[in-house]
Amino acid sequence: MSTIKQQITDTQQRFNDLLAAANNADALEKIRIDFLGRKGELTGLMQALKTLSSDEKREIGPLLNKLKVELEALYAKKKAELESGEYQRDAESKSNFDVSSYVPDKLNGSLHPYTYITQIIENVFMTMGYQIADGPEMEKEFYNFEALNIPGDHPARDMQDTIWLEMPQTLMRTHTSSVQIHTMQNTKPPLAIVAPGRAYRFEATDASHDYVFKQCEGLLVGKDISMSNLLATTKTFLQAIFEKDELVLRVRPGYFPFVEPGIEIDIQCIFCTNGCSTCKKSRWIECMGAGLVNPHVLSHCNIDSREYSGFAFGFGLTRLAMLKYGISDIRMLHNNSVEFLEQF
Ligand code: PHE
Repeated sequence: MSTIKQQITDTQQRFNDLLAAANNADALEKIRIDFLGRKGELTGLMQALKTLSSDEKREIGPLLNKLKVELEALYAKKKAELESGEYQRDAESKSNFDVSSYVPDKLNGSLHPYTYITQIIENVFMTMGYQIADGPEMEKEFYNFEALNIPGDHPARDMQDTIWLEMPQTLMRTHTSSVQIHTMQNTKPPLAIVAPGRAYRFEATDASHDYVFKQCEGLLVGKDISMSNLLATTKTFLQAIFEKDELVLRVRPGYFPFVEPGIEIDIQCIFCTNGCSTCKKSRWIECMGAGLVNPHVLSHCNIDSREYSGFAFGFGLTRLAMLKYGISDIRMLHNNSVEFLEQF
């Protein structure tokens, strides 16, 4: 019997020590489970009580009850103390919370390089009085070829590998030159337009080719339009795009059935002085095809070629964007990787 009395004192002592040391809700909960829980020490002592004689029970029973009441009261008191402390700390930490000090990670939106360069192109030409034109990407053979003076058996059709659609005489436009025809059919001269947009070719993808890419077409029709108008316009534009006060242009003959004469315009390399990988050591960078609008094309659009003349030019907007921004692989422009786009 003396052992159970001893155990009671012992339990009380350890309970007091542990309770004094407990400084958070978890520690307190552990004490509750160990001492007051269903399998705790108090239950153990109650069970031990059952094995005693009735005399012993009469003496020990009240002691155990007293212990239980005391432990529960001490536990409840400590719990209240801790909770009020925690509430206090919580309230303090919240009152010190400064909403303005929270700076979330910044995710800056940026425009696609195509968007930037298209805006620049459109702005340059709008300041010269041009309008922005548009046309369908899914196109009738007539607009992409015939009206541009490229009949069905013309070898020039082989210059542009075409994606034909299942609908008869329908294709994905191989160049933006088809917009020339739509414009001339719908607008009376004088007219001046630029038409940035997608073009499609049936070819394998590599670092410099994709089956879809961007071009930009320019067309001006008026009276007494000459080659010097064309050269002045394209020079002004190229200088604006590459942000140079003076660019050296080189003009070579070029063949495009819808212009006559047809030319190719190169610029002197802006990246080197004695040959680099961009100009392939030639010092010249090909920039665009151009020429005076072929009278056949004008008459396809019911424009009198004795009264009106015009010039047209077309360039790879994709290629220009790659040159301007130093992008070495066309696939970077097209696969929309966020890491790539964030740099712009
Ligand atoms: N359409 C031609 C091409 O895709 C470019 C061009 C446009 C040439 C206008 C002359 C005039 O290569």
